[in-house]
Amino acid sequence: MDICFTNVSVTYGNRVALHPLTLTLRESRIGIIGLNGSGKTTFARLINGLVKPGTGTVSVNGLDTVTDAKAVLSTVGYIFQNPQNQIIMPIVRDDIAFGLKNRGLSGTEMTAQTDAVLARFGIDHLAGRRAHELSGGETQLVAIASVTVTGPSVLILDEPTNQLDLRNRQRVAKTLDALREHAIVVSHDLPLLETFERVLLFHEGRLLADGAPDAVIAAYHEVAGC
Ligand SMILES: Nc1ncnc2c1ncn2[C@@H]1O[C@H](COP(=O)(O)OP(=O)(O)OP(=O)(O)O)[C@@H](O)[C@H]1O
Ligand SMILES: [Mg+2]
Repeated sequence: MDICFTNVSVTYGNRVALHPLTLTLRESRIGIIGLNGSGKTTFARLINGLVKPGTGTVSVNGLDTVTDAKAVLSTVGYIFQNPQNQIIMPIVRDDIAFGLKNRGLSGTEMTAQTDAVLARFGIDHLAGRRAHELSGGETQLVAIASVTVTGPSVLILDEPTNQLDLRNRQRVAKTLDALREHAIVVSHDLPLLETFERVLLFHEGRLLADGAPDAVIAAYHEVAGC
């Protein structure tokens, strides 16, 4: 994986959400931290083209997020800050299978791939459930399954343990740990990122620290003043 930001900035109206930034991401586990409104989600959304750069370019494995938008979308899967918003079909199994439509697969192949991803994330028992009636942790796992079923090599998870109880938080943490995909995780759950290879700290739209979790988390305590 090779994600390159070159002179990237983002402005919403006259508010600068991200000041010019140049960096490359290659690690398999990358955490993104910072205060509310510091630019984390903006940064994460740039990677799959959900947010377009105001200046500069973002590329993923050489694909430009603006000019190669479709290819980028199939390389980078995004699990939203509120995954309830990305459920499309009423029943879990259909929601997971939805991403496989229009790929020229037979019904048997679609069922096999859906079953495989349900098993991979240990959620076979949820297959027949109504997707909008799931708990927060179940929804998070279904969203991860729905996004990974199409085979992206990079996953972006925006606050995946937010509002989860201890048991579901541990389940999601274990699931993240076991992912074979590259994962970029925005989180206020700092212990979740302790084993990551690299953590980025955003502050007021600027990258303030970038390195090993301990050092960057210490820098975060400093800017947070606590
Ligand atoms: N669509 C938008 N239109 C206008 N301003 C926006 C938009 N999205 C984000 N912003 C602003 O850009 C800044 C960065 O927002 P962003 O969502 O990236 O922050 P964040 O670090 O993810 O915050 P949080 O921890 O609360 O999720 C904030 O000041 C926010 O108000
Ligand atoms: Mg956010």
